[in-house]
Amino acid sequence: MNLGNILAVDDEQNIRRLIRNEFSLEGYDVTTAKNGEECLALIQQKQFDVILLDIKLPKLNGLEVLRKIKEISGTVEVIMITGYGDIQTAVNSLKLGAWDYVTKPFKLDELLSIVHKAISGKKQKNPSLSESDGDNYSKSKKFVICPSSAMQAVYQIAHRVAKADHTIMLNGETGVGKDVLAYQIHQQSLCSKGPFVVVDCGLLSHNLAESELYGHRKGAFSGATEAKIGLVEKSHTGTLFLDEIGNIDLELQKKFLRFLETRRFRRVGETREQCVDTRIILATNLDIKKAVQEGTLRSDLFYRITEFIITIPPLRERSEDILAMANYFLENLPHIGTPVGISKEAQAVLTSYPWPGNIREIKAVIRKCALFTDSGIIQPDDLPAHMKARHCESPHKSRNLEDIEKEYIISVLAETEGNQTRASEILGINRKTLYKKIHRYKIFS
Ligand SMILES: Nc1ncnc2c1ncn2[C@@H]1O[C@H](COP(=O)(O)OP(=O)(O)OP(=O)(O)O)[C@@H](O)[C@H]1O
Ligand SMILES: [Mg+2]
Repeated sequence: MNLGNILAVDDEQNIRRLIRNEFSLEGYDVTTAKNGEECLALIQQKQFDVILLDIKLPKLNGLEVLRKIKEISGTVEVIMITGYGDIQTAVNSLKLGAWDYVTKPFKLDELLSIVHKAISGKKQKNPSLSESDGDNYSKSKKFVICPSSAMQAVYQIAHRVAKADHTIMLNGETGVGKDVLAYQIHQQSLCSKGPFVVVDCGLLSHNLAESELYGHRKGAFSGATEAKIGLVEKSHTGTLFLDEIGNIDLELQKKFLRFLETRRFRRVGETREQCVDTRIILATNLDIKKAVQEGTLRSDLFYRITEFIITIPPLRERSEDILAMANYFLENLPHIGTPVGISKEAQAVLTSYPWPGNIREIKAVIRKCALFTDSGIIQPDDLPAHMKARHCESPHKSRNLEDIEKEYIISVLAETEGNQTRASEILGINRKTLYKKIHRYKIFS
């Protein structure tokens, strides 16, 4: 009997041995690798159903390996194994397409159950109905209006500026919905009939960035065997969405500046300047002020170019949206199944959880839970262990945002063993703010 092919990637021999023994006993075929390079070589040779991937690996780290795995194989599910307190990286891994994550030290039962779910989820998935994670704009335009007053204000501003041709910066934590809002703005703008061109600035390679953006003449450099139209030119009469703008290096930011100010550019290898008529939207999940202060973002890019900053608040600051989004994702599952609901107890867990991965995380959680609930109603037990663990014992007690924030800070401080620098990184706030909050909530008294 073979329940599925598993590849366990961990640099610790003990963990590899443990996983091999336990999973083999359960009926899985287990292969192991001690680093990312071995893992990548193995997946070229053999088809795996699930990869258990340690986030901390020598040389190529887990996230890089995950990215490469997803390039090579579109079908394998990856479960990340993360160190205690490394929630942010784990959340980032969901963004890169990991199925789930477990935190070390993990219980084998927990890991077995996640692997089992991942494999049965694969079998149940209907590929023709499954949707890419909002990245393919032409296919996935689904957008739900969040009911919170904070988001209503965001939509109002977005709607108003959409009609003008202001350069807009969308700011907010990972997963809050910057990409989907950018597309909405494009849809509501006067250039909605034109193309919506996305540039993921984080993926621009330094050497080829100019040619990617501005295009090149045939023979402009070795390897330029054909002339190429760049993304900037493709966005003419439409919108150019510069996503993750904080991820481009300063030199490139400088080169960008002139184009952003003048809309003029030159294909690599050409002397003639061209001009495009393009609406520009930028997005970043960085704390803009801090990034400017620290010098990772050019101040002129933000203060001269950006005419409007729209900040999307994190989900934990707009708890009304949590259940609205959960129900929306439940009703719009990519597979057709029996109707599902969420029990009162599970709702309490959902609303008290701080959602560091924001809407992306709630989408992933709901989709997985709905797939595996036996009763048709999602119960607290169907939710991931780390969500239940931090939920307070009395779900009926009404808790305000401050209670939730206090609890979250306490749990992060516990995870980081009191290390405030690391805690502030995980929480996404600076140390001074954390210090103030610790005092305000009398956390150590
Ligand atoms: N209002 C919404 N309606 C429906 N789905 C949404 C909404 N907002 C966000 N989502 C979904 O949540 C996920 C994350 O959204 P999005 O990619 O826009 O976030 P982001 O802020 O750009 O994140 P990052 O900073 O990590 O790039 C996507 O799968 C998207 O489809
Ligand atoms: Mg984004």
